Amino acid sequence: MIEAIGFFGNMDDGISKPKKFLCSDNIMRVVKFNHPENYTRALLHEFLGYKIAALLELPVLDQKLVNIPRELAEIYSHVEGMTPGIKVGSPLVELDKNIADNGLFREPLPELYRSCSNVGMIQDVLAYDIWIHNDDRGSNMGNLLVLPKKDGSKEFVVHDHGYAFFRPVATMDRYKSLQEFKGASLTWQDHLFPFGPIYEAIKINVDLRNPQLNPFLRVVNKIESVSKQELEQIMNEVPEEWQIPDYEKKVLVSFLFDRRFKVREAIIQLVSMWWFPVWNGGALVWPDLQASSE
Ligand SMILES: Nc1ncnc2c1ncn2[C@@H]1O[C@H](COP(=O)(O)OP(=O)(O)O)[C@@H](O)[C@H]1O
Ligand SMILES: [Mg+2]
Repeated sequence: MIEAIGFFGNMDDGISKPKKFLCSDNIMRVVKFNHPENYTRALLHEFLGYKIAALLELPVLDQKLVNIPRELAEIYSHVEGMTPGIKVGSPLVELDKNIADNGLFREPLPELYRSCSNVGMIQDVLAYDIWIHNDDRGSNMGNLLVLPKKDGSKEFVVHDHGYAFFRPVATMDRYKSLQEFKGASLTWQDHLFPFGPIYEAIKINVDLRNPQLNPFLRVVNKIESVSKQELEQIMNEVPEEWQIPDYEKKVLVSFLFDRRFKVREAIIQLVSMWWFPVWNGGALVWPDLQASSE
């Protein structure tokens, strides 16, 4: 297990108060905590969000489990949100914050995303968020990060999945929603402008003019062919220390497994309600998608 060895302060943004730590493998990481205290599922959801993004081969920062030793947490016990134990951390990277000298956006968001070398995967973010029921990206620029690369290009990464799976608090409502929400819709899906301004910038970069070139094919194929074993394997890697009961792990596995064929339906519905502006009215074509067996 990677150990945190030195605390380097809080990040500027984030209500969960992510913190910078130098780690035992000499990498500076941004470490997330279950904060505020009742957010006892924040780390679980971060962990699952990362593992699922990796399974779908989405661009995401490499995330590792990081132990905060008790002695270190005690030295900084006055720092809000500091607690010992196993957390999750991603390497501290430079961000393109898209802020001009006058404090305004340097580029409108549609152009910022268009300038990313991996803009061809931008629709995957939507499919992924629908699958895991993540409602924390729609108006939060900090959860779709843009990284400048050495060669002058840029790349987006999905980030911060604590609010997926019906929010990070272990309420009965969350548990019931996980049991009942087998359809892939997000809770405000039927609104004429669902999902919020970040998706407005995403969808303008999704080209549906040639229905034969369905940009959702890759990610939907991945989602639909996920096996129950793969999901169970991820759940088995959840640290014991987080004390997630087995029945909750089971409900999370079924939630994802039951929704996997519904993501395509949700996308078809969005296309048919003319949610994507770069569209010529044709139905998307889904050749040769195959379901895996259980
Ligand atoms: N690994 C990282 N490298 C650089 N900046 C980061 C990293 N992780 C988080 N940040 C910055 O900190 C902000 C808050 O982190 P986030 O994980 O979104 O926390 P919260 O759950 O509190 O919103 C992000 O929006 C981003 O600006
Ligand atoms: Mg965030």
